[in-house]
Amino acid sequence: DYIKELLGLTNLEDLLKARLNIEKVVVIPGDSDENPLVKDEIGKGVATALLKLLKDGDVIAVTGGSTVAAIADQLPKTTKDVTVVPSRGALGEQVEIQANTIAAALANKLGGRYKLLHAPDNLSQNALSSIIADPKIASVLEAIKGSNILIHGIGEAGVLAQRRSTDPEILDKLEKSNAVAEAFGYYFDAKGNIVHQVESIGLKLTDLQHISKVIAVAGGKSKAKAIEAVAINHRQHILVTDEGAAMEILN
Ligand code: G3H
Repeated sequence: DYIKELLGLTNLEDLLKARLNIEKVVVIPGDSDENPLVKDEIGKGVATALLKLLKDGDVIAVTGGSTVAAIADQLPKTTKDVTVVPSRGALGEQVEIQANTIAAALANKLGGRYKLLHAPDNLSQNALSSIIADPKIASVLEAIKGSNILIHGIGEAGVLAQRRSTDPEILDKLEKSNAVAEAFGYYFDAKGNIVHQVESIGLKLTDLQHISKVIAVAGGKSKAKAIEAVAINHRQHILVTDEGAAMEILN
């Protein structure tokens, strides 16, 4: 904390808390756009915050993404009586950074259990409805709906849509509606309005109000607009970010 004080990061954290109306903000030195090691430090920052707040019986929902993946990498092995679940289905990400993969990795580090959601991407409404009716899937969905901690990444809309090989019509829709941000399959404009949502099952935005700790993790100057848009849309209790994003938001 003394080092953070010296670097002026405590001040940045306070300014960002006020600006984004978030209870707790952690700012990691550096910019993950420029230095990939900063993403690992963000992961470590979340790991530390998480270990402080975890209680027996907690159910943690996680999204996909490389930043959330860094948390599991950075966590020391412990023994916690917790369950980890993916927040939603696969959403078109590579398997390494899918929510299911991260949920299993996090549960292993925490010494807890995991429940996985096997719902392929881009299913029709009909197919999704029959999947939801399956008793095994229903029990996982119930666990997801009962989660009391959510850890989610935030992405730039265009970058995320490209990475997930989104259909050209949807790319067009995102561009026309000035989408700037993405979080767990929802796309937002700069004012925090939802402009598109990926068809999937699991947590919905409206479920977030029942979750007692929503933790957002995103860094890099390029994500500043996206972080702001998502912070307007829904309440986050904790944000772990980096100096690059923080400075850009405050400018
Ligand atoms: O939902 C947004 C993505 O999780 C962000 O992914 O951490 O790889 O940039 P990223």
